[in-house]
Amino acid sequence: MSVVFLNGQFLPKEDAKISPDDRGFLLADGVYEVTPFYEGVPFALDRHLERLEGGLAFMRISYSVDLIAAMHHKLIAENGLTDAPTALVYLQITRGAAPRTHYFPKDPVEPTVYAFAKAWDRPTPERWDQGFSVATVPDRRWSRVDIKTIGLLPNAMAFQDALEAGADDALLIRDGVAIEGAHMNFWGVFDGTVVTHPRSNHILPGITRGVILELAAEHGIPCVERAIQVEELASAEELFFTGTTGEVRPCVKVDGAPVGDGGVGPLTRRLAELFRAKIEETKSAAVATGL
Ligand SMILES: Cc1ncc(COP(=O)(O)O)c(C=O)c1O
Repeated sequence: MSVVFLNGQFLPKEDAKISPDDRGFLLADGVYEVTPFYEGVPFALDRHLERLEGGLAFMRISYSVDLIAAMHHKLIAENGLTDAPTALVYLQITRGAAPRTHYFPKDPVEPTVYAFAKAWDRPTPERWDQGFSVATVPDRRWSRVDIKTIGLLPNAMAFQDALEAGADDALLIRDGVAIEGAHMNFWGVFDGTVVTHPRSNHILPGITRGVILELAAEHGIPCVERAIQVEELASAEELFFTGTTGEVRPCVKVDGAPVGDGGVGPLTRRLAELFRAKIEETKSAAVATGL
C-alpha cells in the first residue's frame, strides 16, 4: 500500500482526494520537484528545495518549504524505502482549488501540496554500456522552462514522438540549437572539452547538471557552457544526458547516426563514475553524522 502526503497529512493513496477545481488540474498552475534518495539518504535535497522556492516565488504561490525535508524523510520511511538502493520523492504544489478563472483567485486559497515516494531502477551496467539513442524533436515549450512547472505537455509529446521514431529519448531543438532532453540536460564532448548549454530561460537548471559542472571543475576536466548547434552533433566525440533518475546517461545515436565511434566515450564514463562516487560520499557522510 502506497502512503502519500496531501495537504499536511500522510494517508493511503486511495484516500487522497483532490478537488476538480484544483488549478493544477484545470490550468497546470503549479510547480514540482523530484528528489532522489539512495538507501534512505537524499541527494542534494537542499538544492532541490532552493529551486522549488525560486519556482514558487516566480509563480507567486506563497508556501514555506521549511517542513518539506522532514516530510520527504517520513514519506520514504512510511513507504518502506529506507533501504531501497534508488528511490525518489515527487512533490507538486499547485495554487489550490478555486472557481476557474485565468487570473489568480481573488480570495486567497491554500496551495495544494501533494507528494509520493517510489523506487526506481538504474539501467543494468550491460544496458548502460550499450548507450541510448535519441531522435531530434522541435522544442515547442514556452520561454520560461527554467521554472519547473507541471505543464509538461510539450515534453511528453516530444518523448512520445521520439519513441514512435524508434529512439529511446528525445533531444529538443530550438533555433538550430540542441537545447536539452525532454527530461534531462544535454552534453557533448568536442575536441576533448565537455560542453553544455549555459543557464538560460530555455533550459531547466538541472541539479544533476550543477553537480556535474562542479565535479568537472574539481577534477580538471575541461568544460564550457555554450550552445551546441545541431550541425555540430555529427562531429561530437561523445554525447550524454544528465538528470535525477537518468544520472549520467550516454547517448550513442542521434536520428539513427552513430555518435563518435558509436560506443560510450571515456569522458561520459569518467563523469558517471565521479557522479556515483559523489552519491556514495553523500551516503557515508549521512551515516557518519546520523542524519
Ligand atoms: C526538461 C528537463 N531538463 C533537465 C532535467 C534534469 O534536472 P535534474 O537534474 O534536476 O533532475 C529535467 C528533470 O526533470 C527536466 O525535466
